[in-house]
Amino acid sequence: MSDSSITLIKNSRIITDKSDFVSDILIQNEKIISLEKDINVEDNFNVYNADGLLAFPGGVDCHTHLENKFGQSVTCDTFDTGTRAAAFGGTTTIIDFAFQNESISAQQAIEYSIRLAENKAGIDYSFHLVLSHIDKQALIDLKNVINDLGISSFKMFMAYPAIMANDAAIYQSLKVTGENGGLICIHAENGPVIDQIVKENIEKGLTSPGHHGFSRPAIMEAEATNRVIKLSELTNAPIYIVHVSCKESLYEVIAARKKNLKVYAETCPHYLFFDDSVYRSDDFDVAKYVISPPLRKKEDQEILWQALAKDDLQVVSTDHCPYCMKEGHLGKINQKPLGLNDFSKIPNGAPGIETRLPVIFEGGVNKGIISLNRFVELVSTAPAKIFGLFPQKGTIAVGSDADIVLFDPKEKNIISASNHQSNVDYSLYEGMEINGKIKKVFLRGSLIVDKDQWVGSYNFGKFLKRGETCKV
Ligand code: URP
Ligand code: ZN
Ligand code: ZN
Repeated sequence: MSDSSITLIKNSRIITDKSDFVSDILIQNEKIISLEKDINVEDNFNVYNADGLLAFPGGVDCHTHLENKFGQSVTCDTFDTGTRAAAFGGTTTIIDFAFQNESISAQQAIEYSIRLAENKAGIDYSFHLVLSHIDKQALIDLKNVINDLGISSFKMFMAYPAIMANDAAIYQSLKVTGENGGLICIHAENGPVIDQIVKENIEKGLTSPGHHGFSRPAIMEAEATNRVIKLSELTNAPIYIVHVSCKESLYEVIAARKKNLKVYAETCPHYLFFDDSVYRSDDFDVAKYVISPPLRKKEDQEILWQALAKDDLQVVSTDHCPYCMKEGHLGKINQKPLGLNDFSKIPNGAPGIETRLPVIFEGGVNKGIISLNRFVELVSTAPAKIFGLFPQKGTIAVGSDADIVLFDPKEKNIISASNHQSNVDYSLYEGMEINGKIKKVFLRGSLIVDKDQWVGSYNFGKFLKRGETCKV
């Protein structure tokens, strides 16, 4: 065979959610066309030797915030820096957010977000539509965006005053998504009670960032999780709980799944590696950990890991929501120092898009908690299935997009913000040693990361129309 559009990856050990085998991967016109041993191509166009390397399907990160505006603050990664960072971390598809509100319709929000991303994104992308204003028209729009625009998932926040949805709005939206193959992602925290606790703490003069952590109790996450599960049960509509941080909330998810309710949930790497002891300091450096929900108890980490191993949790996403610690870093303003004297003004969020696969590989596979197959399922296959992208994304199979990560499990790597791709000026994982290194990343057959070099292009990333959700 001789054709410059053909790429051949020789002899990798292919890991999918269900299989593990050594094979060549033949790619043509962006798709995998053959998985066999000893494939030969006449000319040596685009032939890569992957002896000793693992091949994973490109990661699917279904929870990222690039160029998202929350209040006065915009997350510091744009679609170019953020998708390049994702690619270096082995992720080839992200699902970010488009924000509908009283004055921006669903269609306008989606068109705006696509415009923001196209010509910048180095990997493929889609959006969840954030619903913060529900009326008759918004409910009609919901149905239309699922059927016409390929946006089959939505996000509703039970916390954050500016964008919070009440129970009636969630109930009405679930009725529509449930009947139309859509899925609502929920930020489950009891916002009104948390806002009251925050106010009380600020009034008492407890203003340093650590007080963020102690203002958002785990039982208020569990309460909201339980409440939205009941709404899902009432409407027979699936829900996806984002960033489960603690055992209290996890147990609500487990109980619901035991009853065969259509409840899915994710956690994020920071809840698996850090705990609330970081909040016991008055130093402003703690602002790095100002995320919602906050970090929880040490014992929660092990419980969350076990939940991932047992499919009590289905996905690891990042909730990459980066703000710089230094005001003015790379020209970014209204970053974490906005809350220098008042923790409630610190923009919430932490980075993670570039480190998800490496840290989950290290903490999960290398520590013997999850298998290689389960690793792939958590970071790629399950999010692709839940969010209507499978089998185009999330697997290495004939007919699928040739999104492939070549990974050397023997090479050591140290995480550092000094050499990362993101605009953010810190890494939560600074100095962490990873036994394993991403060597090459392919997006639809094109090499986009080669060792430590970006070789992709910022308009190659493509908007993905998604199908029916929850096909797991
Ligand atoms: O602190 C967080 N998680 N910020 C991002 C917005 C959200 O809640 O997902
Ligand atoms: Zn959230
Ligand atoms: Zn988020």
